[in-house]
Amino acid sequence: MDPRTVLLVGAGRMGGAMIEGWRVAGPVSMDELIVRDPHPSPEARRASEYGAVLDPADADLGRAATVVLAVKPQLWRQVAAEIEPFLAPDAIIVSVAAGVAGADIAAALGGRLVARVMPTTAVAIGQGAVTIHSDSDEARARAHALFATLGSVVDVEDEALMHAATAVSGSGPAYLYAFVEALEAAGVKAGVPAADAATLARATVSGAAALMAAGDTPPAELRRQVTSPGGTTAAGLEVLTGSGDLQQLLAETVAAAVRRSKELG
Ligand SMILES: NC(=O)c1ccc[n+]([C@@H]2O[C@H](COP(=O)([O-])OP(=O)(O)OC[C@H]3O[C@@H](n4cnc5c(N)ncnc54)[C@H](OP(=O)(O)O)[C@@H]3O)[C@@H](O)[C@H]2O)c1
Repeated sequence: MDPRTVLLVGAGRMGGAMIEGWRVAGPVSMDELIVRDPHPSPEARRASEYGAVLDPADADLGRAATVVLAVKPQLWRQVAAEIEPFLAPDAIIVSVAAGVAGADIAAALGGRLVARVMPTTAVAIGQGAVTIHSDSDEARARAHALFATLGSVVDVEDEALMHAATAVSGSGPAYLYAFVEALEAAGVKAGVPAADAATLARATVSGAAALMAAGDTPPAELRRQVTSPGGTTAAGLEVLTGSGDLQQLLAETVAAAVRRSKELG
C-alpha cells in the first residue's frame, strides 16, 4: 500500500469535479490517483494524461491508502462488494454518497474506518461547500486532507446532520440554478430579449455571489445596502419575501431533500 495513493470509485459528475479540484489545488497528485469507473468522465480521462491510472486491474486497488466512494447511492452496496476483497486491510474509506450511513459502509467494507463527506460540484474550482463527518479522528483527518483546499469545510459531530447538510448544500446549487432560470424567464416576460435576459440574470447572480464571498458582510446587510426604502428593489422584495413565502418555500424544499436523503440511506 502507498500512503499517498487514492482510489476513486465512480468518476461521474461529482467524481469528475473532485478530480478537477485535486488536479488544480494539488492535495492529490494525478500520478497517485487510480480511477475505477466503467464510463469515466472527461475530467478522469484528462487526469490520465497527467499520470492517473484508469480502469485498474483488481490487484492495483490494494495500493490505495484512501478509497473515495463516489457512485450513486443506489449502487454503493454492489460496488462495495466488488472492490472489498482487493482493498488494503487498513485503507480508509471516504464516501460522498448521499444518505448512506458510515456504519453501513464500514460493515460492507470489512470494518475499515469511514469518513462521510458532502461536497458541492464547485470543488472543481476550489469553491465547494464541504461537510465532513467521521467517528474516527484518522478518517476525518484523511477527508480534510482531500477537501480542505477545495472549498469551505464544515465538520459535523452528529452524523444525522449529514441529511440536512446534503439538503442545504449538496442539493443547494440546483436550487440556485433554478432561481437563475426563473429570473431569466421573468426578464423575458418583462420584455427583455431572451439572450439579454440570460446575460443579465447570470451575471447578476454570479456577481452578487462573488461580492458576498469577497467580504464578511452577511447577506442580510448586503440586501439592505441595495434596497432603498420605497424603491424598485423594495417593491420586488415585498413580493418575494414580504409574506415569508420564500423562507417557507425553502424550508419545505430542504425538508423534502432531507426526507429523500433518509430514504436513500
Ligand atoms: N452531483 C452532485 O452534485 C453531488 C453532490 C454531493 C454528493 N453527490 C454524491 O456523489 C455520488 C455520485 O453522484 P454523481 O452525480 O457524480 O453521479 P454520476 O454522475 O452518475 O456518477 C457516478 C459514476 O459511477 C459510475 N459507476 C457505475 N457503476 C460503477 C461501478 N460498478 N464501479 C465504479 N463506478 C461505477 C457511473 O458510471 P455509469 O455512468 O456508466 O453508470 C458514473 O460515472 C452520489 O452518491 C451522490 O450522492 C453528488
